[in-house]
Amino acid sequence: MKRIVILISGRGSNMQAVAEACAREGWPATVAAVISNRPQAAGIAWAAERGIPTAVVDHKAYGSREAFDAALQQAIDAFEPDLLVLAGFMRILGADFTRHYAGRMLNVHPSLLPAFTGLHTHRRAIEAGCKVAGATVHFVTAELDHGPIVAQAVVPVLPGDDEAQLAARVLQQEHKLYPMAVRWFVEGQLRIEDGIVWHAGGAPQLLV
Ligand code: GAR
Repeated sequence: MKRIVILISGRGSNMQAVAEACAREGWPATVAAVISNRPQAAGIAWAAERGIPTAVVDHKAYGSREAFDAALQQAIDAFEPDLLVLAGFMRILGADFTRHYAGRMLNVHPSLLPAFTGLHTHRRAIEAGCKVAGATVHFVTAELDHGPIVAQAVVPVLPGDDEAQLAARVLQQEHKLYPMAVRWFVEGQLRIEDGIVWHAGGAPQLLV
């Protein structure tokens, strides 16, 4: 059984999608813990109600990014993860941290990377006149919102869309895309060659 630790900062709907798919589809994996940097994160209550171990490492309690990263790493490693899943985790992680979890840390980002790294991705896609938008699951490296791309989901940007409408359309796809990608990882289906991620069985790494 692969052990998955999920990091969140808030609502945790992607965390829920992964945890529910893991249980429902009988993955060779278990969600060993959900960890938040915000004590009030709604996702923490959801996980605790379902008997999933939870922890909070409050970034406000640490004087530097390095101290926070070290405390977070200690909390994570207590659960002996095979895979770290960032699900709406809104802190920038340092190079030591990303190196420690290299090749075993995934993130979902609400844009078609490498376009629109950072924040306000939906507003920026609308303002740029994009006709499609989407989400990306990628391995995490030291560079923010970069790293080998595991899978992408594409949605249309419709005339008159506001930020909330586009975000909701993308989020719906994230809830399919992220469980699919995490399942591939725990089933050992992913390999990285020269920075490109391939699925061993040739599955399309794309949802449209
Ligand atoms: C999701 O849309 C996720 O892609 C995004 O935050 C949202 C979290 O929602 N992540 C980022 O922007 C990371 N850079 P959730 O807490 O309901 O999963």
